[in-house]
Amino acid sequence: MRVTISPSALMAVFLCFAYTTTAFWRMPCRTRSAIARLDPLVSNGSISQHVHAIHGSGGFSDSASYEDLIAGSCTSCQVTQDKSAYWTPALYFQSSSGDFTLVEQVGGMLAYYLLYPNAGNTSLSAFPAGFQMIAGNTNYRNFSDYAVPDIQKSLWYQPPYNTQAFLEQAALGFNCLNYAKTPEGSLYRHFMPDKAYLDANCADGLRLELMFPSCWTGETFEVKDQKSHMAYPSEVMTGDCPSGFPIRLPSLFYETIWNTAAFIGQAGQFVLANGDPTGYGYHGDFMMGWDPAFLQDAVNTCTNPSGQIQDCPLFNIQNEDTVCNATLPAALETENVLASIPALPGNVPIVSGPAPASGATAGSPVTGAPPAPSSVGTQAAPVPTLSYSAGSSVASTDSYKPGGIFAVSIPTNAAGVAAAPSVSVTQAPVATPLSNTQSFFSTEYTTSGQNVLEVLWVEEIVTVTDPVTTTVMVPGRKRHLNRHVHQAVH
Ligand SMILES: *[C@@H]1O[C@H](CO)[C@@H](O)[C@H](O)[C@H]1NC(C)=O
Ligand SMILES: *[C@@H]1O[C@H](CO)[C@@H](O)[C@H](O)[C@H]1NC(C)=O
Ligand SMILES: *[C@@H]1O[C@H](CO)[C@@H](O)[C@H](O)[C@H]1NC(C)=O
Ligand SMILES: *[C@@H]1O[C@H](CO)[C@@H](O)[C@H](O)[C@H]1NC(C)=O
Repeated sequence: MRVTISPSALMAVFLCFAYTTTAFWRMPCRTRSAIARLDPLVSNGSISQHVHAIHGSGGFSDSASYEDLIAGSCTSCQVTQDKSAYWTPALYFQSSSGDFTLVEQVGGMLAYYLLYPNAGNTSLSAFPAGFQMIAGNTNYRNFSDYAVPDIQKSLWYQPPYNTQAFLEQAALGFNCLNYAKTPEGSLYRHFMPDKAYLDANCADGLRLELMFPSCWTGETFEVKDQKSHMAYPSEVMTGDCPSGFPIRLPSLFYETIWNTAAFIGQAGQFVLANGDPTGYGYHGDFMMGWDPAFLQDAVNTCTNPSGQIQDCPLFNIQNEDTVCNATLPAALETENVLASIPALPGNVPIVSGPAPASGATAGSPVTGAPPAPSSVGTQAAPVPTLSYSAGSSVASTDSYKPGGIFAVSIPTNAAGVAAAPSVSVTQAPVATPLSNTQSFFSTEYTTSGQNVLEVLWVEEIVTVTDPVTTTVMVPGRKRHLNRHVHQAVH
Protein backbone atom coordinates (compact mmCIF):
# COMPACT_ATOMS: atom_id res chain seq x y z
CA MET A 1 0.00 0.00 0.00
CA ARG A 2 1.20 3.41 -0.83
CA VAL A 3 1.12 5.98 1.92
CA THR A 4 1.12 9.65 1.18
CA ILE A 5 1.61 12.23 3.82
CA SER A 6 0.14 15.62 3.26
CA PRO A 7 2.24 18.68 4.01
CA SER A 8 -0.15 19.66 6.79
CA ALA A 9 0.24 16.27 8.44
CA LEU A 10 3.98 16.64 8.24
CA MET A 11 3.76 20.05 9.80
CA ALA A 12 1.69 18.69 12.66
CA VAL A 13 4.28 16.05 13.35
CA PHE A 14 7.02 18.60 13.16
CA LEU A 15 5.40 21.01 15.59
CA CYS A 16 4.72 18.24 18.03
CA PHE A 17 8.33 17.22 17.79
CA ALA A 18 9.48 20.78 18.09
CA TYR A 19 7.78 21.52 21.34
CA THR A 20 8.57 18.31 23.08
CA THR A 21 12.24 19.16 22.73
CA THR A 22 13.81 22.49 23.38
CA ALA A 23 13.20 24.64 20.40
CA PHE A 24 15.46 27.64 20.25
CA TRP A 25 17.94 29.55 18.21
CA ARG A 26 21.06 31.31 19.32
CA MET A 27 21.63 34.62 17.57
CA PRO A 28 25.32 35.49 17.40
CA CYS A 29 26.06 39.21 17.28
CA ARG A 30 29.82 39.04 17.18
CA THR A 31 30.56 42.69 16.56
CA ARG A 32 29.25 45.69 18.45
CA SER A 33 27.24 48.34 16.69
CA ALA A 34 28.36 50.83 19.35
CA ILE A 35 29.94 51.20 22.75
CA ALA A 36 28.41 54.46 23.82
CA ARG A 37 26.01 56.30 26.07
CA LEU A 38 22.95 55.56 23.98
CA ASP A 39 19.62 54.29 25.28
CA PRO A 40 16.50 55.28 23.35
CA LEU A 41 14.26 53.35 25.76
CA VAL A 42 15.37 55.33 28.81
CA SER A 43 16.85 58.55 27.44
CA ASN A 44 15.14 59.05 24.12
CA GLY A 45 16.75 61.84 22.15
CA SER A 46 19.45 62.55 24.68
CA ILE A 47 22.70 61.12 25.96
CA SER A 48 22.12 58.24 28.32
CA GLN A 49 23.49 58.05 31.83
CA HIS A 50 25.94 55.22 31.22
CA VAL A 51 27.79 53.35 28.51
CA HIS A 52 26.17 50.36 26.83
CA ALA A 53 27.58 47.59 24.71
CA ILE A 54 25.15 47.66 21.79
CA HIS A 55 24.51 45.05 19.11
CA GLY A 56 22.19 44.77 16.17
CA SER A 57 20.70 47.20 13.70
CA GLY A 58 22.73 49.98 12.11
CA GLY A 59 19.55 52.06 12.39
CA PHE A 60 20.14 52.39 16.13
CA SER A 61 20.65 55.84 17.60
CA ASP A 62 19.84 57.90 20.68
CA SER A 63 16.27 58.27 19.39
CA ALA A 64 15.72 55.15 17.31
CA SER A 65 12.23 53.93 16.61
CA TYR A 66 11.18 50.49 15.39
CA GLU A 67 10.96 51.93 11.90
CA ASP A 68 14.51 53.25 12.18
CA LEU A 69 15.80 49.83 13.19
CA ILE A 70 13.99 48.16 10.30
CA ALA A 71 15.32 50.79 7.92
CA GLY A 72 18.88 50.26 9.12
CA SER A 73 21.11 49.22 6.23
CA CYS A 74 22.89 46.49 8.21
CA THR A 75 23.00 44.49 11.41
CA SER A 76 25.90 43.38 13.54
CA CYS A 77 24.07 40.12 14.21
CA GLN A 78 24.60 37.20 11.87
CA VAL A 79 21.06 36.86 10.57
CA THR A 80 20.42 39.69 8.16
CA GLN A 81 16.68 39.69 8.86
CA ASP A 82 17.34 40.57 12.50
CA LYS A 83 17.42 44.35 12.81
CA SER A 84 16.70 44.25 16.52
CA ALA A 85 18.76 46.21 19.01
CA TYR A 86 20.22 44.54 22.08
CA TRP A 87 22.10 46.42 24.77
CA THR A 88 23.54 46.03 28.26
CA PRO A 89 25.85 48.13 30.44
CA ALA A 90 29.55 47.72 29.65
CA LEU A 91 32.03 46.44 32.23
CA TYR A 92 34.94 48.59 33.43
CA PHE A 93 38.02 47.99 35.52
CA GLN A 94 38.87 50.72 37.99
CA SER A 95 42.53 50.62 38.95
CA SER A 96 43.74 51.46 42.43
CA SER A 97 44.78 54.86 41.10
CA GLY A 98 41.16 55.51 40.20
CA ASP A 99 41.13 55.48 36.42
CA PHE A 100 38.83 53.29 34.33
CA THR A 101 39.48 50.91 31.46
CA LEU A 102 36.81 49.18 29.40
CA VAL A 103 37.12 45.43 29.89
CA GLU A 104 37.55 43.63 26.58
CA GLN A 105 34.30 42.07 25.42
CA VAL A 106 35.03 38.67 23.95
CA GLY A 107 33.01 37.15 21.14
CA GLY A 108 30.41 39.90 21.01
CA MET A 109 27.03 38.83 22.28
CA LEU A 110 24.67 35.91 22.00
CA ALA A 111 20.93 36.43 22.11
CA TYR A 112 19.05 33.19 22.71
CA TYR A 113 15.49 32.95 21.49
CA LEU A 114 14.13 30.10 23.61
CA LEU A 115 10.75 28.96 22.38
CA TYR A 116 8.75 27.79 25.37
CA PRO A 117 4.99 27.96 24.90
CA ASN A 118 2.68 28.08 27.88
CA ALA A 119 1.74 24.75 29.39
CA GLY A 120 -0.94 23.05 27.34
CA ASN A 121 -0.32 25.22 24.32
CA THR A 122 1.62 24.22 21.26
CA SER A 123 2.09 27.63 19.75
CA LEU A 124 3.98 30.69 20.72
CA SER A 125 3.52 34.30 19.73
CA ALA A 126 6.38 36.21 18.14
CA PHE A 127 7.26 39.69 19.37
CA PRO A 128 4.85 42.13 17.73
CA ALA A 129 6.16 44.99 15.58
CA GLY A 130 7.63 47.72 17.73
CA PHE A 131 7.86 45.55 20.82
CA GLN A 132 10.38 46.69 23.41
CA MET A 133 11.29 45.86 27.00
CA ILE A 134 13.87 46.25 29.74
CA ALA A 135 15.01 43.50 32.12
CA GLY A 136 16.71 44.20 35.43
CA ASN A 137 16.91 47.41 37.45
CA THR A 138 19.87 49.74 37.17
CA ASN A 139 19.36 51.06 40.72
CA TYR A 140 19.40 47.76 42.61
CA ARG A 141 22.35 47.14 44.91
CA ASN A 142 21.34 44.22 47.12
CA PHE A 143 19.76 40.79 46.97
CA SER A 144 17.19 41.36 49.71
CA ASP A 145 16.95 38.37 52.03
CA TYR A 146 16.86 35.76 49.33
CA ALA A 147 18.93 32.67 49.93
CA VAL A 148 22.37 32.36 48.39
CA PRO A 149 22.66 30.15 46.46
CA ASP A 150 19.11 29.76 45.16
CA ILE A 151 16.86 27.34 46.89
CA GLN A 152 15.64 24.64 44.57
CA LYS A 153 13.03 25.79 42.13
CA SER A 154 10.42 23.36 43.38
CA LEU A 155 10.24 25.63 46.44
CA TRP A 156 9.77 28.82 44.49
CA TYR A 157 6.00 28.58 44.86
CA GLN A 158 6.23 30.20 48.30
CA PRO A 159 7.08 33.72 49.49
CA PRO A 160 9.32 35.51 48.88
CA TYR A 161 10.29 33.43 45.86
CA ASN A 162 6.94 33.53 44.11
CA THR A 163 7.29 37.25 43.46
CA GLN A 164 8.33 39.21 40.42
CA ALA A 165 10.76 41.07 42.67
CA PHE A 166 12.70 37.87 43.31
CA LEU A 167 12.40 36.50 39.79
CA GLU A 168 13.77 39.72 38.34
CA GLN A 169 16.90 39.38 40.42
CA ALA A 170 17.21 35.66 39.80
CA ALA A 171 17.24 36.51 36.08
CA LEU A 172 20.80 37.87 36.35
CA GLY A 173 23.80 35.60 36.02
CA PHE A 174 27.52 36.08 36.59
CA ASN A 175 29.25 33.01 35.34
CA CYS A 176 32.85 32.44 36.36
CA LEU A 177 34.59 31.07 33.29
CA ASN A 178 37.38 28.58 33.60
CA TYR A 179 37.53 26.33 30.58
CA ALA A 180 39.83 23.91 32.38
CA LYS A 181 36.99 23.10 34.77
CA THR A 182 33.46 21.88 34.37
CA PRO A 183 31.41 24.94 33.49
CA GLU A 184 29.16 26.62 35.99
CA GLY A 185 25.47 26.57 35.28
CA SER A 186 23.66 29.54 33.82
CA LEU A 187 22.03 31.93 36.28
CA TYR A 188 23.77 30.24 39.18
CA ARG A 189 25.17 33.41 40.76
CA HIS A 190 23.16 36.63 40.77
CA PHE A 191 25.90 39.08 41.74
CA MET A 192 29.32 40.01 40.48
CA PRO A 193 32.12 38.11 42.19
CA ASP A 194 34.70 40.46 43.64
CA LYS A 195 38.14 41.00 42.14
CA ALA A 196 39.93 38.56 44.42
CA TYR A 197 37.45 35.82 43.57
CA LEU A 198 37.69 36.50 39.86
CA ASP A 199 41.48 36.50 40.00
CA ALA A 200 41.58 33.22 41.86
CA ASN A 201 38.92 31.31 39.98
CA CYS A 202 37.88 32.74 36.66
CA ALA A 203 40.86 32.27 34.36
CA ASP A 204 38.76 32.83 31.26
CA GLY A 205 36.76 35.81 32.39
CA LEU A 206 33.20 36.49 33.38
CA ARG A 207 30.03 35.80 31.45
CA LEU A 208 27.17 38.18 32.14
CA GLU A 209 23.77 36.57 31.65
CA LEU A 210 20.34 38.10 31.53
CA MET A 211 16.98 36.41 31.16
CA PHE A 212 14.15 38.61 29.96
CA PRO A 213 10.55 38.16 31.09
CA SER A 214 8.48 36.22 28.55
CA CYS A 215 4.88 36.67 29.75
CA TRP A 216 3.06 39.53 28.14
CA THR A 217 -0.21 41.25 29.00
CA GLY A 218 -0.98 41.10 25.30
CA GLU A 219 -2.33 44.59 25.41
CA THR A 220 0.41 47.08 24.85
CA PHE A 221 4.11 47.54 25.00
CA GLU A 222 4.09 51.30 25.00
CA VAL A 223 4.61 51.63 28.73
CA LYS A 224 6.73 54.29 30.28
CA ASP A 225 8.85 51.99 32.42
CA GLN A 226 9.31 49.50 29.53
CA LYS A 227 8.57 46.78 32.08
CA SER A 228 5.04 46.64 33.41
CA HIS A 229 3.72 44.94 30.26
CA MET A 230 5.88 41.91 31.00
CA ALA A 231 6.34 39.40 33.80
CA TYR A 232 8.56 36.45 34.48
CA PRO A 233 7.17 32.93 34.44
CA SER A 234 7.40 31.15 37.78
CA GLU A 235 10.89 29.75 37.19
CA VAL A 236 12.36 32.81 35.45
CA MET A 237 13.01 30.99 32.20
CA THR A 238 10.35 28.34 32.34
CA GLY A 239 7.24 27.73 34.38
CA ASP A 240 3.82 29.34 34.41
CA CYS A 241 2.90 32.90 33.57
CA PRO A 242 1.22 34.92 36.32
CA SER A 243 -2.39 35.97 35.86
CA GLY A 244 -2.82 39.03 33.74
CA PHE A 245 0.12 38.02 31.51
CA PRO A 246 -1.37 35.28 29.35
CA ILE A 247 0.64 35.63 26.16
CA ARG A 248 3.95 33.80 26.06
CA LEU A 249 6.60 35.39 23.86
CA PRO A 250 10.03 34.01 22.99
CA SER A 251 12.19 33.83 26.09
CA LEU A 252 15.12 36.09 25.39
CA PHE A 253 18.45 35.40 27.07
CA TYR A 254 21.56 37.57 26.61
CA GLU A 255 25.14 36.52 27.14
CA THR A 256 28.24 38.66 26.95
CA ILE A 257 31.73 37.59 27.98
CA TRP A 258 34.21 40.03 29.48
CA ASN A 259 37.91 39.35 29.77
CA THR A 260 38.31 40.14 33.44
CA ALA A 261 41.29 37.77 33.44
CA ALA A 262 43.35 40.43 31.65
CA PHE A 263 43.47 42.27 34.99
CA ILE A 264 44.58 39.37 37.16
CA GLY A 265 47.09 40.63 39.69
CA GLN A 266 46.23 44.31 39.21
CA ALA A 267 44.75 46.09 42.20
CA GLY A 268 41.34 47.57 41.63
CA GLN A 269 37.74 46.59 41.14
CA PHE A 270 35.29 45.79 38.37
CA VAL A 271 32.33 48.04 38.03
CA LEU A 272 29.44 48.08 35.58
CA ALA A 273 29.09 51.26 33.54
CA ASN A 274 26.04 52.24 35.60
CA GLY A 275 28.26 52.66 38.66
CA ASP A 276 27.47 49.23 40.03
CA PRO A 277 30.31 47.18 41.54
CA THR A 278 27.85 44.59 42.91
CA GLY A 279 26.10 43.33 39.80
CA TYR A 280 22.64 43.56 41.35
CA GLY A 281 21.96 46.52 39.07
CA TYR A 282 22.78 44.66 35.86
CA HIS A 283 20.09 45.04 33.21
CA GLY A 284 19.45 44.94 29.50
CA ASP A 285 17.25 46.41 26.84
CA PHE A 286 15.60 44.98 23.76
CA MET A 287 13.92 46.63 20.79
CA MET A 288 12.36 44.21 18.37
CA GLY A 289 13.57 44.83 14.82
CA TRP A 290 12.16 41.95 12.81
CA ASP A 291 9.41 41.84 10.28
CA PRO A 292 6.71 40.42 12.55
CA ALA A 293 5.35 37.92 10.02
CA PHE A 294 8.85 36.67 9.33
CA LEU A 295 9.57 36.35 13.05
CA GLN A 296 6.35 34.37 13.55
CA ASP A 297 7.43 32.04 10.75
CA ALA A 298 10.80 31.66 12.42
CA VAL A 299 9.22 30.95 15.80
CA ASN A 300 7.05 28.28 14.15
CA THR A 301 9.73 26.65 12.08
CA CYS A 302 13.23 27.40 13.43
CA THR A 303 12.83 24.78 16.10
CA ASN A 304 15.86 22.62 15.55
CA PRO A 305 17.12 21.69 19.01
CA SER A 306 20.69 22.35 17.88
CA GLY A 307 19.92 26.04 18.29
CA GLN A 308 22.20 26.78 15.35
CA ILE A 309 21.03 29.51 13.04
CA GLN A 310 22.43 27.46 10.17
CA ASP A 311 19.72 24.89 10.84
CA CYS A 312 16.96 27.38 10.17
CA PRO A 313 16.21 27.51 6.43
CA LEU A 314 14.60 30.94 6.73
CA PHE A 315 17.64 32.72 8.02
CA ASN A 316 19.97 34.60 5.75
CA ILE A 317 23.38 34.35 7.35
CA GLN A 318 26.21 36.83 6.95
CA ASN A 319 29.81 36.79 8.09
CA GLU A 320 30.26 37.06 11.79
CA ASP A 321 32.80 39.86 11.46
CA THR A 322 30.39 42.15 9.62
CA VAL A 323 30.85 45.73 10.76
CA CYS A 324 27.63 47.65 11.27
CA ASN A 325 27.81 50.88 13.22
CA ALA A 326 24.98 52.71 14.91
CA THR A 327 24.73 56.50 14.67
CA LEU A 328 26.33 58.51 17.45
CA PRO A 329 25.26 62.05 18.27
CA ALA A 330 28.08 64.54 17.70
CA ALA A 331 28.54 65.05 21.43
CA LEU A 332 29.54 61.41 21.85
CA GLU A 333 31.78 61.02 18.85
CA THR A 334 34.85 61.96 20.80
CA GLU A 335 33.87 60.73 24.23
CA ASN A 336 36.54 58.44 25.59
CA VAL A 337 34.86 55.25 26.71
CA LEU A 338 37.83 52.95 26.27
CA ALA A 339 40.82 53.52 28.54
CA SER A 340 42.57 55.89 30.93
CA ILE A 341 39.28 57.53 31.76
CA PRO A 342 39.32 59.57 34.98
CA ALA A 343 35.71 58.68 35.84
CA LEU A 344 33.07 56.36 34.50
CA PRO A 345 31.83 57.90 31.26
CA GLY A 346 29.06 60.32 32.16
CA ASN A 347 30.66 60.83 35.57
CA VAL A 348 28.40 58.11 36.88
CA PRO A 349 28.86 57.81 40.65
CA ILE A 350 29.82 54.42 42.02
CA VAL A 351 27.18 53.25 44.45
CA SER A 352 28.06 50.09 46.32
CA GLY A 353 24.80 49.68 48.18
CA PRO A 354 23.02 48.09 49.85
CA ALA A 355 20.80 51.16 49.48
CA PRO A 356 19.63 51.68 45.92
CA ALA A 357 21.38 54.02 43.53
CA SER A 358 19.46 57.16 42.82
CA GLY A 359 19.42 56.82 39.08
CA ALA A 360 21.54 59.91 38.72
CA THR A 361 21.05 61.75 35.47
CA ALA A 362 23.48 61.69 32.62
CA GLY A 363 26.65 63.68 32.95
CA SER A 364 28.31 65.44 30.07
CA PRO A 365 31.00 63.70 28.08
CA VAL A 366 33.92 63.03 30.38
CA THR A 367 36.53 65.68 30.75
CA GLY A 368 36.48 65.83 34.52
CA ALA A 369 38.93 65.19 37.29
CA PRO A 370 39.43 61.77 38.85
CA PRO A 371 36.70 60.72 41.27
CA ALA A 372 37.06 61.45 44.94
CA PRO A 373 39.18 58.85 46.73
CA SER A 374 36.22 57.77 48.84
CA SER A 375 34.55 56.24 45.84
CA VAL A 376 37.61 54.25 44.89
CA GLY A 377 37.54 50.63 45.78
CA THR A 378 34.77 50.91 48.31
CA GLN A 379 32.56 47.91 48.62
CA ALA A 380 30.10 48.73 51.34
CA ALA A 381 27.56 46.10 50.42
CA PRO A 382 28.34 42.71 51.83
CA VAL A 383 28.99 40.69 48.73
CA PRO A 384 28.38 37.03 49.32
CA THR A 385 30.90 34.53 48.21
CA LEU A 386 29.69 31.57 46.30
CA SER A 387 32.22 28.89 45.73
CA TYR A 388 32.87 27.56 42.31
CA SER A 389 30.05 25.28 41.29
CA ALA A 390 30.44 22.79 38.57
CA GLY A 391 27.24 22.76 36.64
CA SER A 392 27.91 19.67 34.63
CA SER A 393 26.85 16.09 34.53
CA VAL A 394 23.26 15.30 34.13
CA ALA A 395 23.55 12.57 36.69
CA SER A 396 21.44 9.54 36.03
CA THR A 397 19.95 10.12 39.46
CA ASP A 398 18.41 13.38 38.33
CA SER A 399 14.70 13.09 38.41
CA TYR A 400 12.30 15.01 36.26
CA LYS A 401 9.29 16.41 38.04
CA PRO A 402 6.15 17.72 36.42
CA GLY A 403 6.23 21.45 36.05
CA GLY A 404 9.72 21.38 34.76
CA ILE A 405 11.74 20.77 37.85
CA PHE A 406 14.91 18.84 37.96
CA ALA A 407 15.86 17.94 41.46
CA VAL A 408 19.46 16.88 41.42
CA SER A 409 20.46 14.21 43.82
CA ILE A 410 23.92 15.08 44.92
CA PRO A 411 26.16 12.09 44.43
CA THR A 412 28.24 11.23 47.44
CA ASN A 413 30.87 9.15 45.68
CA ALA A 414 34.12 10.47 44.31
CA ALA A 415 32.81 10.55 40.78
CA GLY A 416 30.14 12.95 41.88
CA VAL A 417 32.45 15.44 43.48
CA ALA A 418 32.49 17.68 40.47
CA ALA A 419 28.72 17.78 40.32
CA ALA A 420 28.23 18.55 43.97
CA PRO A 421 28.27 22.28 44.45
CA SER A 422 30.37 23.29 47.35
CA VAL A 423 28.58 26.21 48.79
CA SER A 424 29.59 28.76 51.28
CA VAL A 425 27.04 31.34 52.22
CA THR A 426 28.13 34.53 53.83
CA GLN A 427 25.11 36.64 53.10
CA ALA A 428 21.58 35.59 53.82
CA PRO A 429 21.09 32.34 55.68
CA VAL A 430 19.13 29.74 53.78
CA ALA A 431 15.77 30.29 55.35
CA THR A 432 13.98 27.36 53.85
CA PRO A 433 13.69 23.67 54.45
CA LEU A 434 16.68 23.32 52.18
CA SER A 435 19.27 24.63 54.57
CA ASN A 436 21.12 21.36 54.15
CA THR A 437 23.57 21.45 51.28
CA GLN A 438 22.98 17.79 50.64
CA SER A 439 19.75 18.68 48.98
CA PHE A 440 21.15 21.66 47.15
CA PHE A 441 19.81 22.02 43.72
CA SER A 442 21.54 23.58 40.75
CA THR A 443 19.32 26.08 39.08
CA GLU A 444 20.53 25.32 35.64
CA TYR A 445 18.81 21.99 35.77
CA THR A 446 15.41 23.47 36.23
CA THR A 447 13.61 23.79 32.98
CA SER A 448 10.46 22.77 31.28
CA GLY A 449 12.04 19.63 30.02
CA GLN A 450 15.27 17.77 30.10
CA ASN A 451 16.23 19.27 26.79
CA VAL A 452 16.25 22.71 28.22
CA LEU A 453 19.16 21.67 30.27
CA GLU A 454 20.91 20.82 27.06
CA VAL A 455 20.29 24.28 25.77
CA LEU A 456 22.17 25.66 28.63
CA TRP A 457 25.02 23.33 28.04
CA VAL A 458 25.22 23.86 24.36
CA GLU A 459 25.79 27.51 25.03
CA GLU A 460 29.14 26.53 26.46
CA ILE A 461 30.36 26.17 22.93
CA VAL A 462 31.20 29.84 23.21
CA THR A 463 34.80 28.90 23.73
CA VAL A 464 35.88 32.42 23.16
CA THR A 465 39.46 31.64 23.94
CA ASP A 466 39.54 30.98 20.23
CA PRO A 467 36.74 32.75 18.41
CA VAL A 468 37.41 30.74 15.27
CA THR A 469 36.10 27.59 16.91
CA THR A 470 32.94 29.03 18.38
CA THR A 471 30.69 26.76 16.43
CA VAL A 472 32.39 23.58 17.55
CA MET A 473 30.16 21.72 19.93
CA VAL A 474 31.39 19.79 22.87
CA PRO A 475 30.95 16.20 21.71
CA GLY A 476 29.44 14.89 24.93
CA ARG A 477 26.81 17.54 24.91
CA LYS A 478 25.97 16.98 21.33
CA ARG A 479 25.46 13.36 22.12
CA HIS A 480 22.98 14.35 24.80
CA LEU A 481 21.11 16.50 22.41
CA ASN A 482 20.90 13.74 19.88
CA ARG A 483 19.58 11.38 22.46
CA HIS A 484 16.83 13.76 23.39
CA VAL A 485 15.87 14.28 19.81
CA HIS A 486 15.62 10.56 19.50
CA GLN A 487 13.39 10.33 22.54
CA ALA A 488 11.20 13.08 21.27
CA VAL A 489 10.71 11.41 17.92
CA HIS A 490 9.42 8.35 19.67
C1 LIG B 1 12.09 58.23 20.47
O1 LIG B 1 11.49 59.42 20.02
C2 LIG B 1 11.30 59.45 18.61
C3 LIG B 1 10.85 60.84 18.24
O2 LIG B 1 9.77 61.22 19.03
C4 LIG B 1 10.30 58.38 18.24
O3 LIG B 1 10.12 58.36 16.84
C5 LIG B 1 10.84 57.04 18.67
O4 LIG B 1 9.90 56.02 18.42
C6 LIG B 1 11.19 57.05 20.15
N1 LIG B 1 11.90 55.82 20.44
C7 LIG B 1 11.56 55.02 21.44
C8 LIG B 1 12.36 53.79 21.62
O5 LIG B 1 10.64 55.26 22.20
C1 LIG C 1 -1.82 29.52 22.71
O1 LIG C 1 -0.83 30.42 22.30
C2 LIG C 1 -1.20 31.20 21.18
C3 LIG C 1 0.01 32.00 20.77
O2 LIG C 1 0.45 32.80 21.83
C4 LIG C 1 -2.38 32.07 21.53
O3 LIG C 1 -2.77 32.83 20.40
C5 LIG C 1 -3.53 31.21 21.99
O4 LIG C 1 -4.58 32.02 22.44
C6 LIG C 1 -3.08 30.29 23.11
N1 LIG C 1 -4.13 29.34 23.42
C7 LIG C 1 -4.60 29.22 24.65
C8 LIG C 1 -5.67 28.19 24.82
O5 LIG C 1 -4.21 29.88 25.60
C1 LIG D 1 32.67 51.55 13.04
O1 LIG D 1 33.02 51.91 14.36
C2 LIG D 1 34.33 51.54 14.70
C3 LIG D 1 34.51 51.83 16.17
O2 LIG D 1 34.20 53.16 16.44
C4 LIG D 1 35.33 52.28 13.84
O3 LIG D 1 36.64 51.88 14.17
C5 LIG D 1 35.06 51.94 12.39
O4 LIG D 1 35.88 52.72 11.58
C6 LIG D 1 33.60 52.20 12.03
N1 LIG D 1 33.36 51.67 10.71
C7 LIG D 1 32.63 52.29 9.81
C8 LIG D 1 32.48 51.59 8.51
O5 LIG D 1 32.08 53.35 10.04
C1 LIG E 1 17.75 46.76 49.01
O1 LIG E 1 17.28 47.16 47.74
C2 LIG E 1 15.91 47.51 47.72
C3 LIG E 1 15.55 47.80 46.26
O2 LIG E 1 16.37 48.84 45.77
C4 LIG E 1 15.65 48.69 48.63
O3 LIG E 1 14.28 48.99 48.65
C5 LIG E 1 16.13 48.35 50.03
O4 LIG E 1 16.00 49.48 50.86
C6 LIG E 1 17.59 47.90 49.99
N1 LIG E 1 18.02 47.45 51.30
C7 LIG E 1 18.86 48.13 52.06
C8 LIG E 1 19.23 47.48 53.35
O5 LIG E 1 19.29 49.22 51.74
